[in-house]
Amino acid sequence: MMNQQILTITENVPVTASVRRMRLEGAGLEQQKAGGFVNIRLNGLFLRRPISVYDSEPGCLTILYKVVGKGTEQMAGMGSGETLDVLTGLGNGYDLGKAGDAPLLLGGGVGVPPLYLLAKQLATQGKKIRAVLGFNTAEEVFGEAEFRALGCGVTVATTDGSYGVRGFVTDALPEGYSYFYTCGPEPMLRAVYRMTKTSGQFSFEERMGCGFGACMGCSCKTITGYKRICREGPVLEKEEIIWDV
Ligand SMILES: Cc1cc2nc3c(=O)[nH]c(=O)nc-3n(C[C@H](O)[C@H](O)[C@H](O)COP(=O)(O)OP(=O)(O)OC[C@H]3O[C@@H](n4cnc5c(N)ncnc54)[C@H](O)[C@@H]3O)c2cc1C
Ligand code: FES
Repeated sequence: MMNQQILTITENVPVTASVRRMRLEGAGLEQQKAGGFVNIRLNGLFLRRPISVYDSEPGCLTILYKVVGKGTEQMAGMGSGETLDVLTGLGNGYDLGKAGDAPLLLGGGVGVPPLYLLAKQLATQGKKIRAVLGFNTAEEVFGEAEFRALGCGVTVATTDGSYGVRGFVTDALPEGYSYFYTCGPEPMLRAVYRMTKTSGQFSFEERMGCGFGACMGCSCKTITGYKRICREGPVLEKEEIIWDV
């Protein structure tokens, strides 16, 4: 359920040169869904900034964000003890019930964070999880150790070949997975759509407009009409998405 809360920053540290991890705490903060997101209000900016839930337990949530513009720069400049106005509990989240025995997680860049909480929850169900994490270059890589610590088999791909497999996530697809979950930039999602052999779920981190369902700026064409990522998403199933690929 959506909630507006004032949360206190208890950690805000660099993970790579451009990605930071922020931990937020608040009394009454509920456990967030894997694949869900929060919407953060920032000073002087009309639109809240949506960020996926990386990890969550009652009373606390963690996000990983890339500093790309005014909003995320403001977040990067904040310290422990400062507070943020956050809408929590947003997004339909991933459906874990379809994972099968050997789910495959495919993340690209800042599409990796929402897959972490998913992996954590799938791991508690005893699934054999494999994750392929894609980045442009070695300096941008994050998450490998954290996914391994959950017991996942992890392959890292870098576009320039400076770390792991050279190429895209889709160049490192393993065989024999039961289902897939993916999040990343749209060209990657389209390639995953073309090249995967099973059903799966896509989480979109499209740029949003209003963020509350009014502008259609985030819409995606599906077999049941246009769906708004901010309202009906951010997770859509492979079979419902209509992409001319
Ligand atoms: C559901 C959802 C979940 C998200 N989860 C995460 C996350 O976990 N971690 C994370 O780092 N980011 C995530 N994003 C993207 C994040 O919302 C944007 O990067 C952020 O809003 C940028 O705000 P800004 O004010 O810093 O940048 P702006 O000043 O608004 O923009 C700066 C530059 O970044 C580009 N940009 C802005 N938003 C996006 C976007 N969504 N995709 C690609 N380019 C963009 C702009 O075109 C511009 O060039 C998510 C987005 C959505 C919709
Ligand atoms: S961002 Fe306006 S409808 Fe989704």
